[in-house]
Amino acid sequence: MHTNLSVNINKIATLRNARGGNCPDVLKAARDIESFGAEGITVHPRPDERHIRREDVHNLSAMLTTEFNIEGYPSPEFIDLVCSVHPAQVTLVPDAPDQLTSNHGWDTLTHRAFLTDVVARFKECGIRTSIFISAEERFADGAREVGADRVELYTGPYAALYPADPARAIEPFLQTARHCRDLGLGLNAGHDLSLENLGFYHEQIPWTDEVSIGHALICDALYLGLRETVSRYLALLRS
Ligand code: PXP
Repeated sequence: MHTNLSVNINKIATLRNARGGNCPDVLKAARDIESFGAEGITVHPRPDERHIRREDVHNLSAMLTTEFNIEGYPSPEFIDLVCSVHPAQVTLVPDAPDQLTSNHGWDTLTHRAFLTDVVARFKECGIRTSIFISAEERFADGAREVGADRVELYTGPYAALYPADPARAIEPFLQTARHCRDLGLGLNAGHDLSLENLGFYHEQIPWTDEVSIGHALICDALYLGLRETVSRYLALLRS
């Protein structure tokens, strides 16, 4: 069992965009993160391009040597962009265009017809699909029904409860993760994972295929530097 670390580099683009120009350089950061051992790079291009721009997506795609994961709401523009760059994985997120950050997963039952079409479209392009869901078995069932390869469990509620009660925080995730394993669905996790809470999550659910981590990792890098930060996250996934 091996859990890949995919680093979400949106925040690096946010910093760059704050001043114009190209500092910090998003492409260099991605290349460095790969060289420090991360197994993937994630971006979440939004329609307003407030962090990752369409141009970044094309440039990253031409350069990356690890798995490229593009996440976002599957609008017609997003679908065209993803199919044109052909990443290893697309993660479908039910975000409104102006949403600050993802704060819920798909209701895969209510949106079954829409997701079935979208997943089929990505399958035609040969791209692995993952659906962002809350840790509930019924949403994993729905993801399976619409033909997704994986789900990404929304770990925000885990991270919020972890400091007070780790056992209770992990409970629904463990149950849903076991269910995914029984269904033969691949399993990702992401949102608010950190050096504090990742170790326990991984110890409890070691069959997780990939964790996607951005905010806390980039914050840690301010103090530790990117190389040391990436190696600390990897160490938690390898222990
Ligand atoms: N997974 C999804 C679907 C997301 O939208 C995000 C945030 O862009 C993440 C993972 C990473 O979350 P965080 O930045 O809190 O690590």
